[in-house]
Amino acid sequence: MNAQVMPQTNAPDMTARPAFGTVLASQMAVTSWKDGRWSPHEFRRYGPIELSPAIHAIHYGSACFEGFKAYRWVDGSVNVFRMDRHIARLQNSADCLRLPRPDTTQLAAMVTGVIDRVRGEVPESPGALYLRPTLFGTGASIGGATLPATEAMLIVLASPVWDYFAGGEKPLRIFVEEKLTRTSTLMGQVKAAGNYAAALGPTLAARDQYQSDQVLFCPGGSVQETGAANFLLIREGKILTRSLDTTFLHGITRDSLLAIAPQLGFAVEERQFAVDEMLAWVKDGEAALCGTAAVLSGVGTLVREGGQAIPVGGGDVGPHTRRLRKALVSMQLGEIPTPAGWITQA
Ligand SMILES: Cc1ncc(COP(=O)(O)O)c(C=O)c1O
Repeated sequence: MNAQVMPQTNAPDMTARPAFGTVLASQMAVTSWKDGRWSPHEFRRYGPIELSPAIHAIHYGSACFEGFKAYRWVDGSVNVFRMDRHIARLQNSADCLRLPRPDTTQLAAMVTGVIDRVRGEVPESPGALYLRPTLFGTGASIGGATLPATEAMLIVLASPVWDYFAGGEKPLRIFVEEKLTRTSTLMGQVKAAGNYAAALGPTLAARDQYQSDQVLFCPGGSVQETGAANFLLIREGKILTRSLDTTFLHGITRDSLLAIAPQLGFAVEERQFAVDEMLAWVKDGEAALCGTAAVLSGVGTLVREGGQAIPVGGGDVGPHTRRLRKALVSMQLGEIPTPAGWITQA
C-alpha cells in the first residue's frame, strides 16, 4: 500500500471524531497458514505487508473478515463484547470460502494481545476499539479459479471508532430495494469481503438518486437486511425481524437484542415478512438497523422506487428504539449484567 493513501495511525483524537475505520491502531497480529498449519502469531507495528500480486484473494475473492468491539469501562478495564460468537462466525465464513479455519484459542489470543498492546488508544465511550480479524487466501498462482487457496493469512487490525452513521442518532433515510439481492443467496450468511463490493452498485445509485443513507434489500418483496446491518421492526411490546436463513448475515447485535428483549417487555417474532407488512407497521411503529457499527440506529424515512418518501412513525428515532439501544449499550459498557460468556476482559 502506498504510504500516501495509508490510513492515519495511532492518533485517536477524542474531539475530532474521524470517520469510522479511518484511524488504525498502532499494533496488529499476524499468522500464516502453510503446509496444513497456522504459524505462531506475531505482533507487529501496523503497516504495509508484502504480498505477491498473484495471491488467491485478489484474483478469486477468497477473503472474509469479522468486526466487533472492545469497550473501555468506567473502571478503566477494556472488555470485548461477544468475542466467541464473532470467532465462530469467522470460522463459518472460512468454511464457506474453503479457507483454513482460524484456531479459536489462537485468534482469541491475537485479539486480546492486540488490545493489550494498544490499550492507551482505546477511546472512552461512546467510542470503542473496533477489531477486524481478516482472513484471506494467499499462495501465488493465478490458475486457481476452481481451486481453494493453498496458503492463507490471518491479520487482526484494530481501529479506534466513534459513530458509524455520521450524525449519530439522527434518524436514517433508507431506500427500499424490492428487486435486487445484496449478494448471492448462499453467501448472505457469511462475512465475505466480496459481499460488500456486490452491494456497492445499488447502494451508491440509491444514494445519488434518493439521498439515502443505506439500502434495505427486499428481493422479491421479502424484507432482508441492509448493506451492513440487520433490520428490526419495533413497537410497544413487540419486535419483528426476519428469521435466520442463508440469505443474510446472522448479526450478533441482532442476537443480543433478541436475547434481552423479553426482559424489557418485548415479545420477539422471527419470520419472513413482506414490504407491504413493513409499510403498514411503520404507520405507527418503529424501524431500526442493528449491528456492531450501527449499534441500534432508528429509521426515520423509507424511500421507494420513484422517490415516494414514507415517514416511519413521526419520522424521528422512536422511544422503544432508544430504550433498546440504551439497554444494549449498558451491557456493552458493563453497567448492567450480561448473560454468561458475553464479555471477555482483555
Ligand atoms: C451485512 C451485515 N449485516 C448485519 C451486520 C450486523 O452484524 P453484527 O451485529 O454481528 O455486527 C453486519 C455488520 O457486521 C453486516 O455487515
